[in-house]
Amino acid sequence: MKPPLRIGIIGMGGFAGSHHRAVLRLEERGHARLVATCDPHADSFAVEQREWHLASRGVRVFHDYRALLDACHAQLDLVVVPTPIQLHAEMHAAAVSLGLPVYLEKPPTLDYAELERMIAADSRARRQSFVGFNFIIERHRLALKERLLAGEFGALRGATLTALWPRPGSYFSRNQWAGRLRIDGRIVLDSCFGNAMAHFVHNLLFWAGGAGLFSWAQLAAVRAELYRAHAIEGADTFFVEADSTLGVTLRFATTHACSGASSHCEMVLCEKAVIRYSVGSHCEVRWNDGRVERTPLEPFDALSENHLEYYRYLRGEGERPATSLADCRPFVALNDLAHISSRRISAIPARQVSTVRDEKEQKDYLHVAGMTAAHESFLVKGLWPGQHGWEREPGEVATPAEIGRFHETVDAMLGR
Ligand SMILES: NC(=O)c1ccc[n+]([C@@H]2O[C@H](COP(=O)([O-])OP(=O)(O)OC[C@H]3O[C@@H](n4cnc5c(N)ncnc54)[C@H](O)[C@@H]3O)[C@@H](O)[C@H]2O)c1
Repeated sequence: MKPPLRIGIIGMGGFAGSHHRAVLRLEERGHARLVATCDPHADSFAVEQREWHLASRGVRVFHDYRALLDACHAQLDLVVVPTPIQLHAEMHAAAVSLGLPVYLEKPPTLDYAELERMIAADSRARRQSFVGFNFIIERHRLALKERLLAGEFGALRGATLTALWPRPGSYFSRNQWAGRLRIDGRIVLDSCFGNAMAHFVHNLLFWAGGAGLFSWAQLAAVRAELYRAHAIEGADTFFVEADSTLGVTLRFATTHACSGASSHCEMVLCEKAVIRYSVGSHCEVRWNDGRVERTPLEPFDALSENHLEYYRYLRGEGERPATSLADCRPFVALNDLAHISSRRISAIPARQVSTVRDEKEQKDYLHVAGMTAAHESFLVKGLWPGQHGWEREPGEVATPAEIGRFHETVDAMLGR
């Protein structure tokens, strides 16, 4: 068996805790060894530190990631960065300046200019960094994309995403950066589209990438209407339409302003068949001639599998990370152009918004009447909610040539 990869994890709480648990499992199987970790509040994670057996594993604990890198960089093969979005760029830069590749949680950043700086900095690492979009490595997804590229389903006509993920009001106060557009001069742009459901948005761009298996749609034009029901800086509801440079139209409808069960579905519309892909549930290929292929998608241990896949690449056994920083250009540009196109984030008319109490959870959800119907009308017929009851002007067409207006758009949204 190959020697375990030596790892540093920045952070202990939130999703960093999930990485700790995944690395512990991989360490027990001989794939990894946690060398060091840090958190500004490391002492408040005493229980977790015992649960993860940090002392008996000989893991060094720091309060500052710079001290960790100074002391341990020579004993590391990679650094895991699962911290708030606005800290990703500086932590990535510090690690790669020492030659260390990074497992960086999605989204890498939501600022197109910062992404370019990160791509340039990444060339200093011994191997490319990986961005943790969970579902690109799914075997069934990769096999279907191969079939799509081989022409089995005929030409790609379009693709749509619907995702309704209820979030209680408390979700937006769980940390300082939830629902924020900017903090301390740094772009955050946290939203359902750019963060919580980023996986599905990146997946849809992946289906429409026609230049080989690991390719994502290149954008030609974007139109968007952004809304909020919650009292936050950013948007909690997105309607976005993008034309790719290959002439394929993608429509995305995502929201946190709903109640009840979560749902999500990626739909790929081809000349001879329609593919419906619901992560964690099933995939269905419905042929025009009446045949139906239905495959259950077993829940898979996304973190462990993505770690292992990245280790294979770092050991020279795989050609590329499943998503590199450069592969994130369409996703980040789509977020920025959606904000430029929408120009402002509109309040969903108050008469449509009500509070729903979940007694079991003891939590309150904002529910928007007509949300599911608005998703359907937009995805199927291209009807924008602004002109069909939600009372706002249409978004303007934003092309990649206009992405330089992104920062002034955020200024305007913040009223500065
Ligand atoms: N892949 C997934 O399925 C998935 C799921 C949830 C979150 N995420 C991503 O993980 C990242 C973190 O999200 P979160 O909700 O866990 O955030 P969070 O605010 O809970 O922060 C995560 C950790 O970063 C630590 N941290 C903050 N500042 C730090 C600093 N200066 N130095 C070291 N550590 C610091 C925090 O203490 C915490 O331990 C985001 O990019 C998010 O999108 C991914």
